[in-house]
Amino acid sequence: TDLDLDDIHAFAIQLGKDAGSMLQRAAEARFAGGPNASIEKDSAVDIVTQTDEDVEAFIKQEIFTRYPSHKFVGEESYSKGSSKEYLITDEPTWCIDPLDGTVNFTHLFPMFCVSIAFLLNGQPIIGIISAPLLHQFFSARAGHGAWLNQTQRLPLVRDPVPPMPKEAPNRCIFSCEWGKDRRDVQDGNLQRKVESFVNMATELGGRDGKGGMVHGVRSLGSATLDLAYCAMGAFDIWWEAGCWEWDVAAGICLLNEAGGLVTTANPPPTSSSTYADVAIPEAHLGGRLYLAIRPAGPSTDGEG
Ligand code: IPD
Repeated sequence: TDLDLDDIHAFAIQLGKDAGSMLQRAAEARFAGGPNASIEKDSAVDIVTQTDEDVEAFIKQEIFTRYPSHKFVGEESYSKGSSKEYLITDEPTWCIDPLDGTVNFTHLFPMFCVSIAFLLNGQPIIGIISAPLLHQFFSARAGHGAWLNQTQRLPLVRDPVPPMPKEAPNRCIFSCEWGKDRRDVQDGNLQRKVESFVNMATELGGRDGKGGMVHGVRSLGSATLDLAYCAMGAFDIWWEAGCWEWDVAAGICLLNEAGGLVTTANPPPTSSSTYADVAIPEAHLGGRLYLAIRPAGPSTDGEG
């Protein structure tokens, strides 16, 4: 291939910074009393704001100006498209979510970010995540590690514990998301999902309470940041059913580079069925079921 990955990487980093600044300015306008216009898509919790639209338009324009032949898959372009069919091919492809955590953004809960991934042969090989209100800028490139604010290599949490969850199924922070398809309530899917969260948290902690306990269960409202925090080592496990490619592409690149693991486990594991013993199906984009496990141990320092 004649792709200049150094060039694409540098471009993606600048794009992430610029898009992050747009999100920051939009949030500041909201803090200053600006309007909170959002449009409901498939349900009351599936919303889009002008900021999603503006940031995606900006990113798309930048990409097509610089790399006219590359493919583009974006959350808002997809949902507005006439066809429900789309495909991540082996072609050079950008897969982006202009604003992951849109509900958080509208409530000014700071857990939101822009997610930009560059894929080749269907694999995310560059991932950029900018969460401006958190002052966190994550970047990763296959073979070059995952980084916070371009200076700290991930994972940051360097406890010398064995891989989760087999050897250390407790004292973890477990993260899960509610998703946003409330139509699921009618057929019981959401209830089953929540039950899975509860089962997972209690099984991991040991029902007798002696095997240790889950330290906490979190639900951030941003699948992208869930993956980033797994890569950081702050979260031990994250599980969600129902993500789209743009929610996870950059985060998967980050987690892979940090030494973590992404699988498509469903249902989520319990202490009696730890996956170190079973074949782990490799997660693929479009799988829509994701289980992320944080890196096992200390990171190795090296060139970025
Ligand atoms: C959503 C968020 C949410 C997750 C959903 C995603 P959006 O993305 O990441 O936490 O539960 O599956 O679609 O709509 O805010 O970009």
